Amino acid sequence: MAKIAVLGAGYVGLTTAACLASMGHDVVCGDSNKEKIAQLSRCSVSIFEDGLQELVSSGFRNKNLAFVGSVVDAVRSSEFIFLCLPTPESSDGSADTSIIESVAKEISPYLSPRSVIVNKSTLPVGSVGIVQDCIQRRDVHVVSNPEFLREGSAINDFLHPDRIVIGSDNTYAAQRVAQIYAPLGVKILITDATSAETIKYAANAFLAARLSFVNALASVCEAVGAKLSDVMEGVSSDSRIGTHFMQPGPGWGGSCFPKDTKALLKIAQDSGYDFELLAGVISSNERQFDHIAGRIIAEAKSVSDRPTVAIWGLTFKAGTDDLRESPSLKIISRLTKSGLSIQTYDPTQVDVKSRNQQTTNFETALAACKDAHLLAVLTEWSEFSEIDPNLVAAQMRSLFVFDGRNVLNKQLWNNAGFTYKGIGER
Ligand code: UDX
Repeated sequence: MAKIAVLGAGYVGLTTAACLASMGHDVVCGDSNKEKIAQLSRCSVSIFEDGLQELVSSGFRNKNLAFVGSVVDAVRSSEFIFLCLPTPESSDGSADTSIIESVAKEISPYLSPRSVIVNKSTLPVGSVGIVQDCIQRRDVHVVSNPEFLREGSAINDFLHPDRIVIGSDNTYAAQRVAQIYAPLGVKILITDATSAETIKYAANAFLAARLSFVNALASVCEAVGAKLSDVMEGVSSDSRIGTHFMQPGPGWGGSCFPKDTKALLKIAQDSGYDFELLAGVISSNERQFDHIAGRIIAEAKSVSDRPTVAIWGLTFKAGTDDLRESPSLKIISRLTKSGLSIQTYDPTQVDVKSRNQQTTNFETALAACKDAHLLAVLTEWSEFSEIDPNLVAAQMRSLFVFDGRNVLNKQLWNNAGFTYKGIGER
């Protein structure tokens, strides 16, 4: 097994460190955030990710997972150094690689000869070369090994991936990294660095395009009077299209799709290609926020001049406590601008008060519905589809429900007296 350093103990870094340790590798995870490292050194995981605490605990028990407060200490005597560091979005839409560059320069003198740096964070095309220039070491190679982790299923995605992608202009370095993943027994694609870096952006952009198309098709169905659920059953029965990743929603969000689609658009533009199709994917998603908010406002104002709307679901999707680029927050902002009073509930108990003073947060789904004119469901937690609509009806001033994820049982809610509206139907 390999001696591996993972730099960055955030969502990707901690998942990567814990999973590599669970595969039997000897892992040390370094982060400059002393408080985060102190908490992890007490075997306490604050990241909301199913199964991560258990995996970190087993790494501690097996003594092959440790945490240190310095990236330099982490890299000493390591054969592989995984960079899992933040690459925030710059104002022009490009990925900011300044943290990666400064860490690469910092660790360079401490890297063992013939060690390999592994770019795990989502980095712009050409980043392998950038990191190689930063370390100024001819005896250390850099490879791209993009992550394809979804929040809420990151451990499963790491240990049961569809594929491993490794990009390097040095075949030996690529094959050494491939050996790390051999125990997983999955397809390993070894290509050049540029292609590997492009795969990550292309995969996310393709998935985002799929969702933008489905959500736009939902609006077409609403306009022509078709039923999206039936249309999608007919369309996705084509084996070339399939049923995965085709659920309509309030739009896509999160810490990756918005950032990565804009970054790819910028990368293409900077390379001389106007990726207008991708620009349409991004703008269509923005229009989805307007469209969903518009339907909620129209419905709510049909029953009251000063309606109160209950919102179930604040995070960007179910299974996470992550509010970054959450469609729910973008829609809530549009609702409050239209004068609606907003009562919110989220199963993770995240609160958005600090982001929007015109909302009131509640600890239970039923409490959030008290005296509301309309209920809007904006994330797909199973808790929402399991609630008895009769209990909800007893709380509300008027019985309107907008199902922004098409996850409720329409017949049950109609039987409880609700006027049910979903996505993709009038
Ligand atoms: C995504 C990619 O899936 C993952 O491979 C990559 O490594 C990181 O970015 P993540 O951002 O965690 O993962 O979320 P994902 O599950 O892909 O959902 C992204 C957005 O699409 C969310 O807002 C989600 O609600 C929405 N979505 C997803 C839909 O609206 N419908 C779907 O069918 C699936």
